[in-house]
Amino acid sequence: MLKSYIITYLMLLASFCAFSQPYKFQDRSLDIEERVEDLLARLTLEEKVRLLHGNVTTVTADRFESGGVERFGIKQIEMLDGPVGVRDFDQDQKTTALPSTLSLSCTWDVDAATKYGEVLASEMLFFDKHVIFGPGVNLMKSPLCGRNFEYMGEDPFLTGTMASYYIRAIQKYGVAACSKHFVANDIDRWRHFTSSNLDERTLREMHMLPFEMTVKDGGVWMIMTGNNLVNGVHAAENKRILQEILKDEIGFDGVAITDWRGAYNTVNAALGGTDITSGFCAYVFGDGNLLRAVQNGEVPMTVIDDKVRRVLRLYFRTGVIDEGSRPKGEANTPKHHAIARSLAAEGMVLLKNEKKALPLNAQKLKSIFVTGMAADAAPAGTGSSKVDSEISITPLQGLKAAFKTTRITHFPYDKDKIDEMAAAAKGHDVALFVASGARSGESMDLQSLDLPENQAEAIRKLSAAHKKVIVITLSAGPLEMQEWIDGPEAVMACWFAGQATGEAIADVLTGAVTPGGKLSFTIGKKLEDYAPHALGEWPQKPLTDNPPRNAPANPQERVSIHGYDLNYSEGVFVGYRWFDKKAIEPLFPFGYGLSYTAFKIENAGVDIASDKAGQPEVVVKAKVTNKGKKAGSEVVQVYVGDPQSSVERPKRELKGFAKVHLNPGETKEVSIKLDKRSFSFWSIEKNDWEVEPGDFVVEVGNSSRNIVFSETLTLK
Ligand code: BGC
Repeated sequence: MLKSYIITYLMLLASFCAFSQPYKFQDRSLDIEERVEDLLARLTLEEKVRLLHGNVTTVTADRFESGGVERFGIKQIEMLDGPVGVRDFDQDQKTTALPSTLSLSCTWDVDAATKYGEVLASEMLFFDKHVIFGPGVNLMKSPLCGRNFEYMGEDPFLTGTMASYYIRAIQKYGVAACSKHFVANDIDRWRHFTSSNLDERTLREMHMLPFEMTVKDGGVWMIMTGNNLVNGVHAAENKRILQEILKDEIGFDGVAITDWRGAYNTVNAALGGTDITSGFCAYVFGDGNLLRAVQNGEVPMTVIDDKVRRVLRLYFRTGVIDEGSRPKGEANTPKHHAIARSLAAEGMVLLKNEKKALPLNAQKLKSIFVTGMAADAAPAGTGSSKVDSEISITPLQGLKAAFKTTRITHFPYDKDKIDEMAAAAKGHDVALFVASGARSGESMDLQSLDLPENQAEAIRKLSAAHKKVIVITLSAGPLEMQEWIDGPEAVMACWFAGQATGEAIADVLTGAVTPGGKLSFTIGKKLEDYAPHALGEWPQKPLTDNPPRNAPANPQERVSIHGYDLNYSEGVFVGYRWFDKKAIEPLFPFGYGLSYTAFKIENAGVDIASDKAGQPEVVVKAKVTNKGKKAGSEVVQVYVGDPQSSVERPKRELKGFAKVHLNPGETKEVSIKLDKRSFSFWSIEKNDWEVEPGDFVVEVGNSSRNIVFSETLTLK
C-alpha cells in the first residue's frame, strides 16, 4: 500500500517536473530564431504539415484559423480580415469602420497611417487574434478596379510608405499585418483566371515596389498572394516572383499565405514559395496532399522546414506561443470612433472652392438644403473588407449635429424628381448635394466612373437653380466630374469615409477642420485618358470562347485555368506617369488638394550630400509658410526625373514627401532625403537597379502639376 503511494507520488512529481521544466523553445529570454530551431527539431512531419494549411474540415470561406501543435499545447493561429477595420464573423462585438485605405492615402500623413494601424491592432488584441489581412497595396492601374478603395492609389512610393507605417503600428503590439494581394492583382472581376502580364521592369518599379517596401521598411510578417496569375502562372505557384524574388532576393522572412482560392497544385505551390494554403484551397497542403508529396520525394524536407520556420517565427512574433505576452485591446470604443472621425476628415480632398464658398458659418446660416443619393447614407465597399460597425453616421445626421440653429431640409433623392428637387432648393442659403459613386467591392469592377441614378444631371439642374451649390462625393475612388464640375461653387471628395462619415464631413464644412487631403491618384477628364483604357487593355481579354469566370470552392471541381489576359502594355506609365507622358491635362492631378488657408513653399537648398560608388544621397530642403488666416497643413512633394536615359523614364516620379502642420504666419523647414533608389530604374539587361550618371531634375511642388521649384543635379 505504502509502496503504491510512493510510486504514485514519484510519478506525479516526475510529470510535474517534466511539465514545469520548460522546453528550450518556451524560454522567453531566448532569441526567437533559437526558439524556432528548438521547436522545429521536436516536430514530426505530420505536425509540420499541420502548420502549413488552413482548416479543411468544412469547405467554407470563413475558416480563419490554421495550424497549432496539440502535443505542446500550441494553439492555432487566428486571422481576421482587414484592411479598413477588423471584420469578425463570429463575435457579437462590433468593430470600428475606419475610412477606406484609399482615403488614408489621401492624407499623405505617415502619422495618420500610424493611428490607423494602432486602432486595428487594438481591436485585434481585444479579440485575441494574431493576423490581420491588410494593408492592400495593389496599385490603381485603372480607376475601375472594384477594390481600389482597399488600396492606396496609383503611386508605388506613396503606397509603400503609408503601408509601412500602417504595418509597423500594428506589429509593434505583436499583431501581424499582411500585405496583399501579391502581385499585380489589379482587376477583380474574374480575377481567379486572369493573368497579369508584365515585364520585369514594370513589375519591379511599379507593382512589386509597395510589397518590397512593406518588407524592407515595414518589416511585414505575412504576405497574401493574389488569386490571379502572373505571366501565366498562379501567383501562389509562381516560383519566380514568390520564391526567387520576394523571398530569396528581397529577403522576406515571413509567411506567404494564399488568397482564398489562390492555389491548385500541391507540388507547384510548395516549390513555388507558398507557406500556408488557406480558405477554399486549404486542402492543397491539407487532406494528406502535402504529406504524400513529401513522402513521394516530390517536395524535399528542406522546403518543408523552411516553411515551418517561417510559420513558427510568426507564432512567436504574435504571441501564439507566449500567451499573455501581448497587451489587452479595445474594440468599438469612443476613442476609436474619434480617431475614425479625424482620419476621415483628414483624408477628404477639397477639389474646388470658388468665392470661398467653404467653410460654412454655422452661426450665420439660416437654412441648408440637402439632397443626393448619399445624403442619408454612409457608403462602404462590399466583400471581405466590409466592417460590421455599430455606428454609422450619415451626412444628414452629421449636419444636424453641427448646425444646431440652422434649418435643414432633406429632400430624399429620387432620379425621377430632379426638377422638383431643384425647385425645392430655392430659398435656402446653401444647397448641398451628397453624391454617391457606384457600388464597389470585391469580385466586381466598375463599369464606368459616372455617378449613378442621373446624379450628374441632378447636380447640373441644381446648379442652374441655385447659386450656392456644394457637392460632396462619397465614392470608392475617382469619378467622372467633367460634365458637372462647372456648376457647383465647391466640391469635396470624401471617399468611403467609415463610421464617422457625417461628422467628418460636418467638421470640414464648418471649418472645424481645415482640409489638407491630396489626391493619391489622378482624376482624369474621361476614362479614355487613363492608360489601360487608352490602350484598350481593360477589361481583361478572354482567351477562348466563354472561359469560366470564378474558381469553384469545392476541391473536386477546382482546376487551374488561364482564361483571360490583362496586359500591362503601359509599362511603368501608370496614373500620372501616363498623363505626363501623353501630355494629357487631368481634371485634378495626382497630389492635388485645396485648403482654407494658403501656403508658400520656398527652396531652402537641394544638395548632394554624398555621391560615392553609385550610392548617391541628396537632401532636399523646403521652407513652408502659412500665409493665410487659418491653421492648416500642406504636403511638400519631391519628384525626380531623368531627362537623358538609355530607357524611357517617366517625366517625374514621387520620391519623397512630408506633411507640415502650420498655424497662421508660421514657417517650418522640411528636409527630405533621396537615395540611390530615388534615381534608379530597373535594368532588364543588368537584372538590377541602375543609376545612370548624368543630370537629374529634382522638382518640389504641392501637386504633380504644380511644381514650385526645381534643380538639376549631376550625379557621377
Ligand atoms: C479576398 C481576400 C480576403 C480573403 C478572406 C478573399 O476573397 O480576396 O482579400 O482576405 O478573401 O476573406
